Amino acid sequence: MLQPRTPILLLLEALLLLLLLPSAPRAAATPGSSELSKAVNVTWKSTDFKTILEWQSTLKDYVYTVEMSSSKANRWKKKCIRTSATECDVTDDMKDVMEKYSTRILIEKQMRTEDDIEEPPFVYAPDFTPYLDTNIGQPIIESFSQNGTKLRVVVQDPHTALRLEQNYKTLRGIFGRNLSYTLFYWKAASTGKKSEKTDTNEFLVNVEREDYCFNVQATILSRSKNRKSPESRIECTSLKKGLSEEAFFIIGAVVLVIIIITIVILSVTLYKCRKRKDSAKKDHSPLRFP
Ligand SMILES: *[C@@H]1O[C@H](CO)[C@@H](O)[C@H](O)[C@H]1NC(C)=O
Ligand SMILES: *[C@@H]1O[C@H](CO)[C@@H](O)[C@H](O)[C@H]1NC(C)=O
Ligand SMILES: *[C@@H]1O[C@H](CO)[C@@H](O)[C@H](O)[C@H]1NC(C)=O
Repeated sequence: MLQPRTPILLLLEALLLLLLLPSAPRAAATPGSSELSKAVNVTWKSTDFKTILEWQSTLKDYVYTVEMSSSKANRWKKKCIRTSATECDVTDDMKDVMEKYSTRILIEKQMRTEDDIEEPPFVYAPDFTPYLDTNIGQPIIESFSQNGTKLRVVVQDPHTALRLEQNYKTLRGIFGRNLSYTLFYWKAASTGKKSEKTDTNEFLVNVEREDYCFNVQATILSRSKNRKSPESRIECTSLKKGLSEEAFFIIGAVVLVIIIITIVILSVTLYKCRKRKDSAKKDHSPLRFP
């Protein structure tokens, strides 16, 4: 059973354990902070600034309270008080995206006892700076078109979970030029990939007059780790429209040739007729038909 302990008691216990370590049977040790952090495994789940603290717990009949602090706040702010759930949405408590937040989880018995006057034990979560640590979600291709040898691709600028006044900020709105997109594109009939980068949400690349497939990936240029988003779904162009344009030209050319041939035949016929008339006049022998 876990007993709430004061920090001093915990420290003494830890010292004692250290001194007795070679002979102290581990199983007999009562749970201290290190035991707790083994029992309660804290992880961050955060994408596009929606941030949830999760923990896995092997403890039974305990409740949890999340406490948060940052360099700007000089006290712990409580969140998800005495919850028996094993997660807590802290999105709205991390609005200052550049700030490094400290977070810990207090662990208390579900049933309150007189011992509760003592400060309950807690485990720390890893520090979290939203601007550096939130994952970037899978990009979505908003639209694309291929006009002959120009491929144009527009990437959606997603809304994040961060609200300022009435509006949710977009990813571009938060990262500005620190957010870059990479377009990977290749001929549908082959596998050789090319890539192109942009610091906007739009690509315009020169391609051959062929079908292409492509996808995109976001990169946060200012980060040293966790820089890349997953790749978007693959999309492919289809030049059927281009083919019908070609067919249009071929039909046009054929019609033109037919018209020219008709004109030539007509003028040749007319010329022959006139020649025959002329020669008839010269002969002074009017044509007679039976
Ligand atoms: C803690 O949780 C993470 C993710 O949920 C898992 O990958 C890891 O193995 C866990 N660690 C321990 C010590 O249980
Ligand atoms: C395709 O490009 C041509 C010339 O470059 C332009 O006149 C035409 O409007 C474009 N078509 C579309 C659908 O963008
Ligand atoms: C890019 O990131 C750096 C470091 O995180 C930050 O100082 C800078 O203001 C950011 N630039 C823009 C345009 O957001």
